[in-house]
Amino acid sequence: MADEVRVPIRGDADLVVARAEARAMAQELGFPRPDPTLIATAISEIARNIVVHAGRGEIVLRPFDEEDRYGLTVIARDDGPGIRDLDAALRDDYSGRGGLGLGLPGARRLMDDFDVRSDPENGTTVTMRKWRHHDQLARRREERRRRE
Ligand SMILES: Nc1ncnc2c1ncn2[C@@H]1O[C@H](COP(=O)(O)OP(=O)(O)OP(=O)(O)O)[C@@H](O)[C@H]1O
Ligand SMILES: [Mg+2]
Repeated sequence: MADEVRVPIRGDADLVVARAEARAMAQELGFPRPDPTLIATAISEIARNIVVHAGRGEIVLRPFDEEDRYGLTVIARDDGPGIRDLDAALRDDYSGRGGLGLGLPGARRLMDDFDVRSDPENGTTVTMRKWRHHDQLARRREERRRRE
């Protein structure tokens, strides 16, 4: 598996690429359904924010493997204006929320870990992870092997 996949985000067409890469990596890592789709959906929200609020940036997808956990780290970076009121932006009732989007709180709910760093000098970095315990993955692989 690739160590890392970088997807430049400059427009809506790049969202499709980021989604597909994330879905493929999540499946390869052994995430069961619907996790690859949930991860792709969270990425759509964050990448769309880059397009709409910052103009351009990138999404980095990186598998991680720790003693007890295993999974996918998604880092979304831009050099845009930053999020003026981060606490408000993370609230469900944020009034600036326009359409049907899940927004930042929606993306946060879809993932296991979610962290936002944002300021006017450095732009915005969203780091989010979806993970599974190693024993869950082992069980899952074993089930799949038996079906094949
Ligand atoms: N990458 C970013 N750069 C600058 N501001 C951002 C960025 N991402 C989010 N924001 C700010 O945080 C707010 C909340 O983002 P969020 O995605 O939750 O809602 P939204 O983009 O306004 O609407 P939607 O629900 O359609 O996504 C945005 O309105 C914007 O002001
Ligand atoms: Mg948004």
